Amino acid sequence: MKVRFLGTAAGGGLPQWNCACAGCDAARRAGVGRTQDCLAVSGDGTAWHLVNASPDLRGQLVAAPELAPGPGLRDTPIRGVLCSTAELDHTLGLITLREATSLSIYATAPVRAALEGPFPAGPILSHYTKVEWHEVVPGAWMNLPDGLMVRGVTLGAKRPRYAAGLPGEDWVVAYRIVDPVTGGVLVYAPCLAQWSEDFLRLIEHAHVVVLDGTFLHDDEMTRETDTPGRPASSMGHLPIEDTLGKLPPGIRFIYTHLNNTNPLARPGADKLDGAEVAAEGQVLEL
Ligand code: MLT
Ligand code: MN
Ligand code: ZN
Repeated sequence: MKVRFLGTAAGGGLPQWNCACAGCDAARRAGVGRTQDCLAVSGDGTAWHLVNASPDLRGQLVAAPELAPGPGLRDTPIRGVLCSTAELDHTLGLITLREATSLSIYATAPVRAALEGPFPAGPILSHYTKVEWHEVVPGAWMNLPDGLMVRGVTLGAKRPRYAAGLPGEDWVVAYRIVDPVTGGVLVYAPCLAQWSEDFLRLIEHAHVVVLDGTFLHDDEMTRETDTPGRPASSMGHLPIEDTLGKLPPGIRFIYTHLNNTNPLARPGADKLDGAEVAAEGQVLEL
């Protein structure tokens, strides 16, 4: 299995266009930053699936040699998108894919309802391309056309603000992705609201776990902006300071979806002990 981190920032990216916090300011001055969270995975290195579709998707695709089109004029290695949430930082990029000849979208029933209703990405896309929906049933394995096997597991019921009125529980899922040829196991969990037995089972025997690194500290919004902010944990994101010490041994942990207030998102930030912070364009093979 091949993996590429297309983007590693939380909603807004780094720097965020309207933010003058220390992190955004430093990124702006250094001329480096992070684009919004998005991953690409492939079992055979020729057909790829995106996990989420960030608002920065076009730039992320153009910067990825693995995802270049060809050999035919309109051939693309991108087969579809697996949605882990319906949040705008994970779905606005769906619209960017409208030039595709066809597009598979994998989503739980509530996430699909959001993408067909209050944020009608599906109906809009269907005017431009052929959309094939695949329902992600939590716990059930799915076979991707490139040979990978994927299972979604519900991590939370936090809906996007724009979908506040919609029913359902399976709003936030993690994906466990297995390459049956190499035996490689990847877990992608960019939104982790609580540490649970279910989560520990989900990551059991994984080789790499890509984990929620939105915030380093629970009080980060207050600490880094000098204005009263909500605690990280109340926003559906356990802070790294709470998860780092609990990471089971034997697994490679890589934090992603870093908010612009997160000191670890900045260029030249200190290294973590026992885990990594994802880099833009980082590739893995497992
Ligand atoms: C989240 O990760 O909690 C959401 O993307 C928040 C947001 O961007 O509105
Ligand atoms: Mn987000
Ligand atoms: Zn900022």
